[in-house]
Amino acid sequence: MKIVMIGDITGQAGIDYLGECLPQVIAEKNPDLIIANAENAMSNGRGINRQVAEQLYDLGVEFLTMGNHVWDHKDAFTLLQEDQRIVRPANMAASLPGRGHVYCKVHGQEVAIVNIIGRTYMNLSDCPFQTMDHLLDEISKRTPFIIVDFHAEVTSEKLAMGYYLDGKVSAVIGTHTHVQTADEQILSGQTAYLTDVGMTGPAQGILGVDKSLIIERFRYATPVRFELAKGSRHFHAVYFELDKAGRAVSIERIRYVEKDRK
Ligand SMILES: [Fe+2]
Ligand SMILES: [Fe+2]
Repeated sequence: MKIVMIGDITGQAGIDYLGECLPQVIAEKNPDLIIANAENAMSNGRGINRQVAEQLYDLGVEFLTMGNHVWDHKDAFTLLQEDQRIVRPANMAASLPGRGHVYCKVHGQEVAIVNIIGRTYMNLSDCPFQTMDHLLDEISKRTPFIIVDFHAEVTSEKLAMGYYLDGKVSAVIGTHTHVQTADEQILSGQTAYLTDVGMTGPAQGILGVDKSLIIERFRYATPVRFELAKGSRHFHAVYFELDKAGRAVSIERIRYVEKDRK
């Protein structure tokens, strides 16, 4: 099974560049399943609504994972109740709408897609390790094809989750930092692992945001209103293959950077 996971799609620039890059990825890799993190897909980089989700589906993305920005747009509360293709962090308050894991069918094979969020330098949430224990009690009975988007800030927490889930899931792919790491690997239990897949959207800002605003925030520690950067865009994703038992056999990073766009 061939899977593409795309990193945090950020703003309309991210959606537009996804539209330019994804056909090439599909032509080269012929994936069976395309997943994207969409927590920043609104035009202001915060959250998601139905119209934006539909744009992503129209471009070929089949499932959307989320993160700390999941509730930033008010429409998310009804959207996540109704749309079973969106997965939000499982270790947020259970009374919130939406699902922390979903099942899909790929060529007749059931696949579970799970989203969890880290706790270090992030808002409060339940323990992601214990949450995974509970989820796997249920999911592992149904399928060995389990793909985890771990949305977390620090590399150590992500690596800890990768090793903790090694041999128990098909892939642990990190999102949230918006910078792609070069540590793609298949762990000893045949779990595909990447600390962060990177973002898709404005390339010349700081994590997608206009760099002068972020510099100002660091220099003066004053509140600033985020605006997304203009100019060149980049696309970051990861491609991995699973064998018939749901174990990873290959993993490869994908990165396109646009040149000289004003
Ligand atoms: Fe993000
Ligand atoms: Fe995030």
